[in-house]
Amino acid sequence: MTSDKRGMHGIWASRWTFILAAVGSAVGLGNIWKFPYITGENGGGAFVLVYLLCILVAGIPVMIAEVLLGRRGRMSPIHTMQAEARRQNAPRFFSGIGWMGAVSGFFILSFYSVIAGWTLAYIGEMASGTFNGADATVAGETFGNLLGSPWVLLGLHTIFMIMTGFVIARGVKHGLEDGVRLMMPLLFVMLILLLGYAITTPGFGQGWNFMFSFDFSKLTTESIVVALGHSFFTLSLGMGAIMAYGAYMPSEASLTKTIFTVAFLDTLVALVAGLIIFPIVFSHGMEPAAGPGLMFQTLPIAFGALPGGAWIGTAFFVLVAIAAWSSAISIAEPAVAWAVEKGIKRGTATIMVCVLAWVLGVGTVLSFNEWGDKQFFVTETISESVTDPVSGEVSAKTLSSSFHLYANTTDLKAVPLAEGTERAISGKTFFDILDFLTANILLPLGGLAIAVFVGWLMRREDSANELQADETVYNVWRFMLRFLSPLAILFIFINGLL
Ligand code: PFF
Repeated sequence: MTSDKRGMHGIWASRWTFILAAVGSAVGLGNIWKFPYITGENGGGAFVLVYLLCILVAGIPVMIAEVLLGRRGRMSPIHTMQAEARRQNAPRFFSGIGWMGAVSGFFILSFYSVIAGWTLAYIGEMASGTFNGADATVAGETFGNLLGSPWVLLGLHTIFMIMTGFVIARGVKHGLEDGVRLMMPLLFVMLILLLGYAITTPGFGQGWNFMFSFDFSKLTTESIVVALGHSFFTLSLGMGAIMAYGAYMPSEASLTKTIFTVAFLDTLVALVAGLIIFPIVFSHGMEPAAGPGLMFQTLPIAFGALPGGAWIGTAFFVLVAIAAWSSAISIAEPAVAWAVEKGIKRGTATIMVCVLAWVLGVGTVLSFNEWGDKQFFVTETISESVTDPVSGEVSAKTLSSSFHLYANTTDLKAVPLAEGTERAISGKTFFDILDFLTANILLPLGGLAIAVFVGWLMRREDSANELQADETVYNVWRFMLRFLSPLAILFIFINGLL
């Protein structure tokens, strides 16, 4: 029953096409938008180091396992996992890995498209010269105005989802190959140009130190969970995207070399993005922990200061939008491929997947405006500052702390405070929840399940046959997949839960 589905989606023209497509999937908003802002929120250097370790210890071994599974199965992740779990006599749970991935995919696509919509808006802002000579205030206001307009965000989200659907409907091979071949090299050139500019800014040294001086006192358990989650998100792991692409990979191509290339390029782009953004942050006295707006408030200032910056800026946001586009396509591919294998026409399958993700995306659109104050997992802390009579040091003393599963933060803030006390509120919006749930829980769990499946349940000769690597490489990889990757993921999870 399964054999007739095999290979029905086509095979990449060569190993290099797979690399381009996989890099197209991996390099996206995660590298240029998310990596810098979570690095900023989590204190910089130590976070970067943990992220790099996670890529090495968990990301790369799991990525090899995912592509291996995909190429062996040559079907959508859902069907590949069902067939492979049966063949290896694995517990039933493992045949559901593909399903879990599809659910994560819907969640990710829904908010990914909204953020990608912001980059579309910035193409227009750049081209119209909004940022010529702009300072941090102008950049902040422009971004704030965009987020405050739900209808504009909804329109952009719609346009981006249609763009994504258009390529998927044509088939990944025809739709994607030509696109990534042109845009990936362009994006690299553009990043190097911007890095050149960042090096000349007065904040470069400070930006460099922020990213590469490892101050472990800034590291919290949550930041380690975030680093692990991001290493999966940025490599497109744990939800079947890379598995789906692996299914279209030529049989003779070397898996390990290919994956190393993809992971290396992905990491490079993230680090360079950080080295562009943080010097600008420090040169303009901005806040590294500005959150999701970081890229949108820093880069325009750089473009505004460059001669011909409006043009360079326009081109840059076009490239970021394309990078997001090629990633979004890979997020939707597993679900669409599954539906096609079920006999649904590719066009119809695409519409179903995109409409569902679009509807869910409305929640993310509203998270930045109408629903901004409706938050979950809210903690409210009231503190007063006390001065030590001996040392004169001022510190905050917590008077009370309360937790609400759901709260309207505007209502909380409306309750008057006693003199001399301060209130801090932190909670998660609808978008925050989807982001946290997918990147920090579902993707690592998917990765863990894949590591256990390929490392422990799949017969050694099966994985060795598919990998076709030399003995040492195979052994090192298998050891990491069996022990290091699952233990690292479990350890971080358990710590995070506690
Ligand atoms: N890796 C993409 C990025 O960094 O933007 C996002 C992504 C693509 C996540 C595909 C998950 C996925 F399956």
